[in-house]
Amino acid sequence: MINISVFISGRGSNFKAINEAIKCGFIKNTKISMVISDNSDAQGLLYAKENNIPYTIIDNREKHEREANILKTLKAYNIDLVCLAGYMKIIGPEIINNYPSKIMNIHPSLLPSFPGINAQKQALDYGAKITGCTLHFVDALVDHGPIILQRSVKIDENDSIESLSAKILYYEHETYPLGVQLFVEHRLVVLGRKVIIR
Ligand code: GRF
Repeated sequence: MINISVFISGRGSNFKAINEAIKCGFIKNTKISMVISDNSDAQGLLYAKENNIPYTIIDNREKHEREANILKTLKAYNIDLVCLAGYMKIIGPEIINNYPSKIMNIHPSLLPSFPGINAQKQALDYGAKITGCTLHFVDALVDHGPIILQRSVKIDENDSIESLSAKILYYEHETYPLGVQLFVEHRLVVLGRKVIIR
């Protein structure tokens, strides 16, 4: 059994997509053992409650304390994989070193283009014709680690931030569960910057 911890700060739609993929058997032999949020008002916590998924709020302002609490929780629940899903804090080196190639994040652009916040707005403002989403392993730099999967999305002339975000999110909800499934089946091999899918 693979134990996942999903980290959220808000809506939690990717968290839900991963859990639904487990529930319907697309991802086998896996459970979300702990949801960690830095925001007690995160909408995604309602879904955790409704589905009896354990969750905890770790919202220490001091980064060192917060990270120590997170690490303790991950160890206590024997977590094998961390899925960052709209988690708005930067993960520090101690957690990353404890979970090498075991922390994933999804970002709403085709990295390395448009890292950081408001990636959809960045793509629109830049005049890009194509953007998308990137599932990647987390390393010490923000939105930088080895790329697991990407999906492209066409930007139409009349797209708004909202319409583009919705189009990208649709693919995020396919991409994240697929990446988790590949991880669970031990099919992801990280060679430097490259992730080979066996
Ligand atoms: C998504 O757009 C994801 O790419 C970004 O944050 C957003 C999270 O959405 N990292 P949700 O909370 O999973 O609905």
